[in-house]
Amino acid sequence: MMRLDKLLAHSGYGTRKEVKEIIRKGFVLVNGDVIKSDDYKVSEENDEIIVAGNQVNYEKMIYIMLNKPDGYISATYDNYDPIVLDLIDGYENRGLFPVGRLDKDSEGLLLITNDGLLAHRLLAPKYHVDKKYYIKYDGVVNDDKIKKLENGITIDDGYKCKEARFIAISPNEAYIVISEGKFHQVKRMMEAIDCNVTYLKRVEFGPLELDDSLEPGAYRHLTEEEVSLLKAE
Ligand code: URA
Repeated sequence: MMRLDKLLAHSGYGTRKEVKEIIRKGFVLVNGDVIKSDDYKVSEENDEIIVAGNQVNYEKMIYIMLNKPDGYISATYDNYDPIVLDLIDGYENRGLFPVGRLDKDSEGLLLITNDGLLAHRLLAPKYHVDKKYYIKYDGVVNDDKIKKLENGITIDDGYKCKEARFIAISPNEAYIVISEGKFHQVKRMMEAIDCNVTYLKRVEFGPLELDDSLEPGAYRHLTEEEVSLLKAE
C-alpha cells in the first residue's frame, strides 16, 4: 500500500504539491469513488485509479539481482545467443535491462532494472561505483605487477586505467576491484601484466554483494534496504 499522492507523483502527474491539488479538487477516483485526501492509502496492484478520466498505469520500479551464468549476453536483444533477460520470468514488457555488462563467459552479480535514472547514475564514470571481481588466471603476479595495477595500468589501446585493488587469494586466484567498466577491462588489465584470465565472476557491485544462495542463472528481487543503499551510492 502507498499514499495516493506519492503514487500519482511517481506516475508523472506532477510534483507532490501539484498532485495534492489535483486530489483536493476531486479529479481522482479510486475504485469508482472520488478521493479528496492525499494520504489515502492505495494498493499499487489492486486498486483502479482514474485521474480526470484516464486510468493510471503505475510503473513500479523493479530491481533484480541475477547471478549471471556463462553463455548469456548482457543485453536486451541478441540475434544468436540467449540474453540475460531470458532468465527472468514474468516481467515481459516492463522495460527491464541489465545495468552495465558482463562478458558472455563471465558470471556473477548483474543488476536488472527498469529504473533508467538509477542505472544512468550507477554507470556514469564520475560516480566511480566499485565493482569487485573474483578471478582465476594463468601467469604470475608479483609485487611489481600489483603496484602497476594499483597505480593505474595502461591497457592495449593506450588507455590508463584508474587505480585498482588486487587482493591475492592463491597463486592463481584473486579479487580485483575497479571503479570503471571498459569493455573486457579486467581481462585487458591482467593481459597488461602478462596474465590470462580463465574465469571471472563479479561478486560486488557498489554496495551490493552477490547473494551466495543464488546458483548461476538464479535471481531475486533486491530488498528495500539494498535499493536504498544503491540510491545513496
Ligand atoms: N571485466 C572483464 O574483462 N569482463 C567482464 O565481464 C567484466 C569486467
